[in-house]
This record gives sequence, structure tokens and C-alpha cells, in this order.
Amino acid sequence: MIETVGVVGAGTMGIGIAQIAAQNEHQVIIYDHSEAQLEKAKLGLEKVLNRLVEKERITDNERKKIIDRMVFTPKMSELWPCGLVIEAIVESIEIKHQVFQSLENIVSEHCILATNTSSLSIASIGASLKIAERIIGIHFFNPAPLMPLVEIIPSIQTGEKTTTVCKNLISSWGKTVVLCKDTPGFIVNRVARPFYGEALRIYEEGMADFSTIDWALTEIGGFRMGPFTLMDYIGNDVNFAVTESVFKAFFYDPRFKPSFTQKRYAEAGYFGRKSGRGYYDYDDVKLNPKPQTDKALGEKILNRILCLLINEAIDAVFMGVATSKDVDLAMTKGVNYPKGLLKWGDEIGLDKILKQLQNLFDYYGEDRYRPNPLLRQMVKENKQFYE
Ligand SMILES: NC(=O)c1ccc[n+]([C@@H]2O[C@H](COP(=O)([O-])OP(=O)(O)OC[C@H]3O[C@@H](n4cnc5c(N)ncnc54)[C@H](O)[C@@H]3O)[C@@H](O)[C@H]2O)c1
Repeated sequence: MIETVGVVGAGTMGIGIAQIAAQNEHQVIIYDHSEAQLEKAKLGLEKVLNRLVEKERITDNERKKIIDRMVFTPKMSELWPCGLVIEAIVESIEIKHQVFQSLENIVSEHCILATNTSSLSIASIGASLKIAERIIGIHFFNPAPLMPLVEIIPSIQTGEKTTTVCKNLISSWGKTVVLCKDTPGFIVNRVARPFYGEALRIYEEGMADFSTIDWALTEIGGFRMGPFTLMDYIGNDVNFAVTESVFKAFFYDPRFKPSFTQKRYAEAGYFGRKSGRGYYDYDDVKLNPKPQTDKALGEKILNRILCLLINEAIDAVFMGVATSKDVDLAMTKGVNYPKGLLKWGDEIGLDKILKQLQNLFDYYGEDRYRPNPLLRQMVKENKQFYE
């Protein structure tokens, strides 16, 4: 039984994770090396909890109890009673190594040490520990208290007990837990790459403009946001950096090749909403072109992006990254896709997906369109992901 949860880093993710743990009746100790950040995080959390009381999601008494369960500290040594510590500091392997080494000297030998990293390998973080069986990835999505999905990533060093305890604990917090191999991008950030990459490619080929591609994906496909609106929302600088890091981490597999269009937008400072301009203009929305609402063109765009997404989801299953059920759960709960991609593939017909990918592959001769072997096999055997 884990009573006390420690959180290292009181930034965007850390404070959200601390809130979830405290709402689930854990004592929570939040450590950050910056006192100013601790103060800021505490004030921010108080505001969030006050809003929850106003909206009648929690009572004022519950709000008080949540606050009482939390300790904010600039001293790492105060983390000693924790049964689990979740690290959410800067994305730097050197700094994470230092922090985990210091942490190991403070907590008991039974304490599980987790990282919320988005892009580093769990094995590389675990390498800094004396007891490496206790390392695990617990990857929350932003904003952590609202997003239902959590990816749990055991590395090659992780003990079975560590994984079981974390799976059960995070599920008991009301989260949808998926289990995932320690591979670049885990599930969501790997499988979602073509949503951006193929949309950019379609634009670069001159097949359609940003607004038409977004229209096809939202109006015909049922996605909540089109790829260009979403990239502007995430920030082109951030999205490009993730794309580049996944590409490198996959040893430059051409399936994950970044786009020059996005690189130029990031270089120009056209980050998206936060800079007032990205693929769209946010200062003067009248300047944004209207989509070309041609249904045949829209379906062509949607099908092309969808085929690549489904191929990527199949690859995650083929490579043992996650089960088909978890891949579908991850994309619906982590990035709000209207349907699980494998279920969607079944509905469209895996033979049709294979045919379209084969046509693209024959036309372009590029590896990014190569159909996955599992897809070929399933079509040959007339199989589906769901019966
Ligand atoms: N922001 C996201 O959308 C998101 C989503 C999932 C995972 N992540 C991952 O979560 C982690 C944190 O991201 P974030 O966006 O919350 O970052 P952030 O910059 O908002 O917060 C990081 C916090 O860590 C503190 N910190 C830095 N170095 C420290 C040290 N040596 N000791 C103690 N505290 C230290 C900083 O003072 C800061 O408060 C990263 O690994 C990131 O990849 C981020």
C-alpha cells in the first residue's frame, strides 16, 4: 500500500500529478529546487481547487482536505517517507540522472521511482539507479487532472512487482492505463506522427491548403481538431522538436521524416496560437482562407492520412509495443481520436487499407508508405482486429 506520493518538479505536469494523488487521498510531498516555482504552483493549484468548488465538483471541505494532504518543499530530503516518487522535471538526461541518484539516497529501498518523461528512454534513466528494478515510466498527458490516459512503461530493468503496483495504483486514481514497451514516443506520440506528417506532405504536394485539410479531418473524419489547428495549438516549435526527436530515436526511419514546411514555420517564429501566427493568423482571423469543401477531395485527404495512421497503429502491435486494445484506448483517451484506429481499420476493411497503401507505395516508391507485414498477413488470412 502506497500512502505517501512524492512529486519532483512543481511545473505544468508535476502540480497536476500532485493534485490527482492528493484528490485520491494520498499524502503528497512536492519538491522543486525553485522556491518561486513552488509558490507559483501552490497559488495555481489553489485557484484550480477554488474553481472546482465553484463548479460544485468538490465540496469546500474536500478542497481543504486536499490542501492539507500536500506539502511543498525546496528540500529533497523531505521525500523520505514516500512509497512512490514521480519525477517531472526538465527533459534532460543529465539532470534526471543527478536527481534520481540523489533521490535513491533519501528514500527507502522499497520506494518506486517513476519518470514522466515524454521522450527519454526509461532504461537510460534507470541506468543511474543502484536498484534499477524500481524504475518505471508513468506518462501522464497535459493537463494531467483532466486527461484520462496514462501510459505505463516498464523498461528492461523494471521488476514485475513495480509494474503491477503502478498499474493498480494509477487505475485506482480513475485513469485509463495502457501498458507500453520502452520505445520512442511510447504509444501516442509514435502512432500519431502521420496525423501531422502526412497532412504536411499533402499540403507540400499542393493537393490542398491548410484549411481544406483541417476541414476534411474534422467535418468528414470526425476529429476534434484538424492537424494544422492542432499543430498551432501545440506550438510548431514543440511539435517539430518532438517529430525530430522521434525521427532520430528511430534511427532515421523515413516513416518519421520531419517536414521542411514545419521547420520553416518554427524557424520563422510562426509557432501558432502562442505567437499570434502559425499556419493560421490569430490576430486577424479574417485573413484565414475558407476551406474548399469538395467532398471527393476531402475524402481523398482523410483516407490517405487515416491509412498511414492505421498502418502505424498496426506497426505498434506488430512490434509488441502494446496490445491492439491498448493502442486503440491510447488514441481515443490520450488524443481524443473519434475511434480506435484498429477498430476503424476493421470497419473500412483491412484489404482496402492495404490496397491504398500499396498504391501510394507504388506511386512514390518511398518507405513511408510501406504496408506493415502484419497488415499483409491479416488480409491474407482474412482476419480482423475485433470479431
Ligand atoms: N508539458 C507537457 O505537455 C508534458 C506532457 C507529458 C510529459 N511531460 C514531461 O514531464 C516533464 C516535466 O515537464 P513540464 O512541462 O511539467 O516542465 P516544466 O518546465 O513546466 O516544469 C519543470 C519543473 O522542474 C523543476 N526543476 C528543474 N530542474 C530541477 C531539479 N534539478 N530539481 C528539482 N526541480 C527541478 C523546475 O523548477 C520546474 O518547476 C518532462 O520530462 C516532460 O517531458 C510534459
